[in-house]
Amino acid sequence: MSHAGRERTEAAPYRLTFDGTTVTARPGQSVGAALVAAGIVSWRTTRRAGGPRGLFCGIGVCFDCLITVDDHPGQRACLVPARDGMRLSREETRPSAEDGRGGEGSDGD
Ligand code: FES
Repeated sequence: MSHAGRERTEAAPYRLTFDGTTVTARPGQSVGAALVAAGIVSWRTTRRAGGPRGLFCGIGVCFDCLITVDDHPGQRACLVPARDGMRLSREETRPSAEDGRGGEGSDGD
């Protein structure tokens, strides 16, 4: 079967940075999907044990994927659509003064 005359044009990939490293994303991809496609599977650590965290549920429920997007911390990477020029950075873990815990997510440690 011929596809002549039905050429499909691919949209140009977006260029984002993660801690200063350029990462590409396809239009429609989430920030988390773009990072995983680039081989980056962890971008924050758990509060106590420092365990690596990235995508887990992928649907906005677990909060494991928190990331800083354009200087806005606490964004769920699985829900944020990638955009050209985004600046992503690792989520800083901040202990809470109330219970010795900080941040959100299913840290389990
Ligand atoms: S991976 Fe669970 S909230 Fe994003």
